[in-house]
Amino acid sequence: MPKPAAATTLYDSIELADRTLTNRVALAPMTRCKAGPDRLANALIAEYYQQRAGTGLIITEATTVSPQANGYLNTPGIYTDEQGESWRQVTDAVHEVGGTIFLQLWHTGRASHSDFHDGELPVSASAIRIEGDGVHTKNGKQDYEIPRALETDEIPGVVADYVAAAHRAKQAGFDGLEIHSANGYLLDQFLQSRTNHRTDQYGGSVENRFRLLREVVEGVSEVLGPNRVAVRLAPNGAFNDMGSPDFRETFTYVARQLDQYGLAYLHVMDGLAFGFHEQGDPMTLDDFRAVFHGPLMGNCGYNQKTAEKAVAGGAADMIAIGRPFITNPDLVARWKNGWPMADLSDPASWYTLEQTPAGYSDYTCHMPAR
Ligand code: PHB
Repeated sequence: MPKPAAATTLYDSIELADRTLTNRVALAPMTRCKAGPDRLANALIAEYYQQRAGTGLIITEATTVSPQANGYLNTPGIYTDEQGESWRQVTDAVHEVGGTIFLQLWHTGRASHSDFHDGELPVSASAIRIEGDGVHTKNGKQDYEIPRALETDEIPGVVADYVAAAHRAKQAGFDGLEIHSANGYLLDQFLQSRTNHRTDQYGGSVENRFRLLREVVEGVSEVLGPNRVAVRLAPNGAFNDMGSPDFRETFTYVARQLDQYGLAYLHVMDGLAFGFHEQGDPMTLDDFRAVFHGPLMGNCGYNQKTAEKAVAGGAADMIAIGRPFITNPDLVARWKNGWPMADLSDPASWYTLEQTPAGYSDYTCHMPAR
């Protein structure tokens, strides 16, 4: 009798975007606010990602595609040539040690404030405000404003911003791009019925609500090839005042559509650690597996045990890990070798705006990235 094939483990390689990733852990995209007011990548950011290159895939922090996309202080951008070129030191640093790195493309939409836009209102699918805590701008913490609904004829310009960002990212040496369509940012605002009350071809039916994401996926895929393009979705999330009664129908449709492109992977925040909207039973990775047949990445609240189980059991092909990577740059080696993990330290130090290593790139790394 032939021996049954051994189950895939979290520490097995996977082929993705024409590269062999050495394991199935991804560094989840995490905002770290080290780019400074010009929103440029820098040596500190390169060092931070190089330290974490032992993970199968690095997904960078969310990076804005246009000035209109900005909504946070000191997050990086990729809408000027200078910004694009600044990322080269990051991709070089990661490749030097054998890592693979995707850039996450971001438009915050209504999760922004006129302080970022010379007094102009932020934009969204519809003029519906975030009911929530508020937004940090150069003038301190501000209440959310009612955004301006994008005019139909402005939407091609938004798609063009993503495409231009993709060209710059390719030039800068990224291995691929993840389109951020989660967590209540612009693309999610278009997808979900809670935030999209439009009556044009970008609103109403789920087909119409998906149209903007479709155009972005197709535009960006023309630049890099669809096998270097990924999408992140948050079907269960409440962050940024999200959650729609028809979430299951919406995200099932979206995943089924995305299945047609041959994407690098679909990144689903299936876990509830970032908030749950409680509009019904949460969607699981199995729900996505049923309609999406490419590589599937789970995320949000996984630990070593649950991540290992998700891959060994076939629920996911990869698992993205966020917070534990902040204090454990060599997380994969620690998990694989049973080495102790550093505590999460003080979350207050994670988002300081100073461009210094403290709480950022000064955590112990027991071995070179690879
Ligand atoms: C944040 O900086 O709070 C943030 C950014 C991107 C996300 C979620 C949260 O997807």
